[in-house]
Amino acid sequence: MKKFKFIDLFCGIGGFHQAMEALGGECVYACDIDADCRKTYEANYGLKPDVDVTKIDPNKLPKFDVLCGGFPCQAFSKAGKRLGFADETKGTLFFDVERIMAACKPKYALLENVRNLASHDGGNTWKTIHEHLTNIGYNVLAEPVIFSPHYLGIPQHRERVFIMCVREDIGTLPIFSFNAKGKLPKCNIEDILQDDLEIEDLQNYRLSEEKIQLVDLWNEFIQNIKCEKLPGFPVWSEYLHAPSKNEDMSGYPSWKVNFINKNNQLYLDNKEFIDEWLPRAQKHPLFFGAKAKLEWQAGQFEHPDIWEHILQFRPSGIRVKPGTYFPALVAITQTSIVGCRKRELTLRECARLQSFPDTFQPDVVEAQAYKQFGNAVNVEVVKLFAKYLFGDKATIKKYAKASDGSGKAGTVDFLQLLELYPDKIIENKPIRVEAAERIIMPKMETIEPNKQVDLEGLDTTKNLLVSLVKADNMEQYLDQSAKIYYTGKKFPSTVALNKLYYFMPYIAKQGVKDLYYIKIARVGTRKEGQPDNDPNDFRLVFEIEFVKELFPDYKKVHLDIWQAFKDTTLEKMLY
Ligand SMILES: C[S@@+](CC[C@H](N)C(=O)[O-])C[C@H]1O[C@@H](n2cnc3c(N)ncnc32)[C@H](O)[C@@H]1O
Repeated sequence: MKKFKFIDLFCGIGGFHQAMEALGGECVYACDIDADCRKTYEANYGLKPDVDVTKIDPNKLPKFDVLCGGFPCQAFSKAGKRLGFADETKGTLFFDVERIMAACKPKYALLENVRNLASHDGGNTWKTIHEHLTNIGYNVLAEPVIFSPHYLGIPQHRERVFIMCVREDIGTLPIFSFNAKGKLPKCNIEDILQDDLEIEDLQNYRLSEEKIQLVDLWNEFIQNIKCEKLPGFPVWSEYLHAPSKNEDMSGYPSWKVNFINKNNQLYLDNKEFIDEWLPRAQKHPLFFGAKAKLEWQAGQFEHPDIWEHILQFRPSGIRVKPGTYFPALVAITQTSIVGCRKRELTLRECARLQSFPDTFQPDVVEAQAYKQFGNAVNVEVVKLFAKYLFGDKATIKKYAKASDGSGKAGTVDFLQLLELYPDKIIENKPIRVEAAERIIMPKMETIEPNKQVDLEGLDTTKNLLVSLVKADNMEQYLDQSAKIYYTGKKFPSTVALNKLYYFMPYIAKQGVKDLYYIKIARVGTRKEGQPDNDPNDFRLVFEIEFVKELFPDYKKVHLDIWQAFKDTTLEKMLY
C-alpha cells in the first residue's frame, strides 16, 4: 500500500488510526469531543486531537486522501431511543461528515456505525446516507455491509455497518460478499486471554466467593433439569412453581405470559429437583432480583457447564453466552466474565478483543478505559475494509461477490452491464486541447530524462485504460492500425467504464508507446462478425482510434489489472 494521509473524525482512542497507520497512512488530523479520549489519543499517537467535528472549517484542514469516521451512533443504536436523523445532535453528525467530504473531496472515506443503521426507520436512514454520499460524488455499495470481528476468528461478536466510499473519478467497488451463515473461522478466547500469573492485580478481577457460589447454584440447576432442550427462554426463579390461579396476568404483555407459562412447565417437569434446589438457592444472600434469573444463551450441550462459558451479570439476569467468543464490548460497564478463569476481562484483554496492540496505553482511569474500548472500532476489521477500499488484490479476490456466475471474484458482470447499457457504455468525441493550462504537466524526472513526452493536444485528466495485447492481434498494434480491442473474459469491476477515454495497448515484453482514444465502449462478443464467433462469450469491446505516439520508444509501466486500471488518468500514469 502506498503512503497516504488520513484524518480521524470522532477518533475515540484511534481504532481507525491503528489500522490506517499499519497500512502506510499518516494521520494529519484527529477530532473528538471527549477530553479523556483526547488524552489517551495524544498519549498513544503524539497527536493532539481537535474538539468538535461540527466546528470544523474544511478549508482549514490539512490535505488528506482518506477520511475515517465512526460517527456517534446512539441515535441509531438499539440501546438509544432510535430517533436517527430526528435526533438533532448526534443523528446529524453524519451531515458534518458529508459537509467535510463535499468540501475536501478525499479519494476515499471509510465510515462505521452500529448494525441497526442498516435497518433503522425501515431502511430510510441508510437510503438517506447512501443518497447523500452519492450526490456529493462518491461511489458507495448499494447495500450496507455488516461485519463482525468473529467472522475473522477474533473472539468478539460485534456486528457493525461499514460504509466504503470511493470518489467517483477513481472507480467503483465490487459488491462485498460474506456469508455469515456459512462456515466461519474458529474463534478461541485463549487467543486474547492473559495468563493469570501475569495479571498484577488479579484479585481485582476475581469473582468473589459469594458470586462463585451463586453461579455454582445455577450450574447445579442447569445440570440437573430434565428437558428436551436446554431452556432458550429466561429462567425466572419466582415463576418456578405450578401454574397459579392467583396470578393475575391480564395486564401482562403476551411475551411475558409466554415466559411465565414456560417456567411453570419447567417446574412441573422437574418438580422433585426444583423443590429441593430452590429453597436452598433462596437462602443464598445474592439470590434475589436479576441474580435469581438465568438467561442460558450458550446453545445445546449434553453436559452443560456454566464455567465453560462467558457470563454477564445483567439487569435482566445472569446471561451465559458461548465460550468461543465474547459478546460486543459496550461502553456501559457490563464486563464479561471468563467462566474458565472465574474472573472479569482485564483491560489488556479488552484491548486485544478490539485488536489493539499490547503496546497501547489505556486510560489510567479504569472505568474510562473500559468505556473507550467499548466505543472503539476493531482494528483488524478496519484493516480489511481499508484494503478492500484501496483495491488490495487479495482482499478483493477473497470478498468480492462472484459476479459472472463462473466463480471468479470481482469481475464485471456482462449481463448486468448489458441491462444497464443495452446499446453502449460510452461514446466519446475526439478532443483536442488547445489551451496550454488544460494540460497538467507530469513530473518529467519519473520518465527517462532524455525521452520527451509528447502531450500536446491531450487532456491528461481523462481516464485511461492500459491493457495487455495478446500475441494473436499484435500486428495491428505494432503498425498503429488497430480499430477494435476486446478484453478477456475477466475484467476488473473496479474500472469506471463509463468514464474511460484513452487507451494504451501494452505490448508484451515491450510496454507502452501509442495512445488511442476510445470512440465507443460496449458489451460485445469475442470474434464478433467472424465465423467462429460465440454469441454467449461476452467481452468488453472498445472501438478505438490511434491518436499519437506518447514516447518515441516503448516504455515499461507498472501493469496491475486490479490497481492501476481503476483510477488511472493519463496524468497519473505518467507520474
Ligand atoms: C463510536 S465512538 C468512535 C470511536 C473510535 N472509532 C475508536 O476507535 O475509538 C464515537 C466518538 O465520537 C465522539 N463525538 C461525539 N460527538 C462529537 C463531536 N461533535 N465532535 C467530535 N467528536 C464527537 C465521542 O466522544 C466518541 O468518542
